[in-house]
Amino acid sequence: MRSSGSTQKTVVLCISGGIAAYKAVEIARRLFDLGYHVVPVMTEDAKRFVGETTFSALSSEPVRSSLWNSTDPVPHTTLARRADLVLVAPATANVISKFANGASDDLVSAVLIAARSKVLIAPAMHTEMWENPAVRRNIEFLAATGVSIVQPGVGRLAGGDFGAGRMAEPHEIVAMAQGLLEEVGKIDLAGLEVVVSAGGTREAIDPVRFIGNRSSGRQGYAFAEVALAGGASVSLVSTVENLPPPNGAKMVSVESASEMSAAMKELSKTADIIVMAAAVADFRVEDQKSQKIKKGDGVPEIRLVHTEDILAYLGANRSRRQVIVGFAAETGDPENYARDKLSRKGADIIVGNDVTSPGAGFATETNSVFIVESDRDATYLERVSKRRVAEVVLARALEILSSGPKV
Ligand code: CTP
Repeated sequence: MRSSGSTQKTVVLCISGGIAAYKAVEIARRLFDLGYHVVPVMTEDAKRFVGETTFSALSSEPVRSSLWNSTDPVPHTTLARRADLVLVAPATANVISKFANGASDDLVSAVLIAARSKVLIAPAMHTEMWENPAVRRNIEFLAATGVSIVQPGVGRLAGGDFGAGRMAEPHEIVAMAQGLLEEVGKIDLAGLEVVVSAGGTREAIDPVRFIGNRSSGRQGYAFAEVALAGGASVSLVSTVENLPPPNGAKMVSVESASEMSAAMKELSKTADIIVMAAAVADFRVEDQKSQKIKKGDGVPEIRLVHTEDILAYLGANRSRRQVIVGFAAETGDPENYARDKLSRKGADIIVGNDVTSPGAGFATETNSVFIVESDRDATYLERVSKRRVAEVVLARALEILSSGPKV
């Protein structure tokens, strides 16, 4: 789910130096065919077994193998953040040892140490090595920290030997990877009603002109998609015209802040989670003209008045137990402004972003945000997809909802 706002999930496929590297070619191909975004990372030793070109040709991106030869100053953390799953196949005794001990002297081991995503390793080595107490200890340690392991089988090994330690078959590894990927971002919202607002409102000046803003609506749409995937019934109150409606959402098209307000007030009566992702205009034209203003009539004076603050209204008028999420695009001292908004608007969660930071804000695929709630430290998510933002926030909303009444 990194790399784009789409639903495509990313597998960082790490290949280390063992004869089973040739089987990783099949793994890359299968994962790619299943629709995953596959990013191959090879150790230098892996290249002794299979050429880089083979993996580059069968994956979604060219092979990476260096911590240094890249325009990205931190390729390991960038890759780790983009990953929904880091898969190491084959995982040699050396890679396993480095991972278990926190060493990071090449790109594969650095990605592993930096990964917050799920990690799946497919050990491959000779029987003597697999049975070695140090290897056993490393495997047990990794398993205890939540790393998934595809147990090796018994079979032919390098050099014509036979025994335990042979890497599991590609189809077994891919099946396990798929199972883990399906779990990613899955939140159980069955039976809940989620209402999301999205896009920038348009405040008419006359029938042809309006005051608008640059909101693309993508963050709101990502919320709707994630909520639908979690089984919620979803209403999307949107001003957006150029994004495909999420499959299964009840769409309510609006234009102005006042239309959005009316729709949100109505839908919020039965909502369990409300997400005000829309960029609602703070001002509207006081005296909207019903006829087009003619250029020849001189330069018009346009008086603006405040719109109603929809989020603040919803925060102050809860009719039932519900979690209300607002947004805050800030500059200066973002976290404090966002905390202020949290209490001022009566929201449970504010998703803030520092609009001056790179990769944040309007019309971008990724977003760097922080999440504030009262009596809690902020959670910072950097350069993640808008879907990921939605997943984290909805998971938190669900926890709040389950933890007690707020009516
Ligand atoms: N919002 C709203 N109704 C409005 C304006 C904003 O519901 N008329 C919601 C947005 O959907 C978003 C949050 O409030 O969730 C953003 O608030 P913002 O406009 O940044 O806050 P302001 O009250 O305008 O605060 P400030 O100008 O001080 O940043």
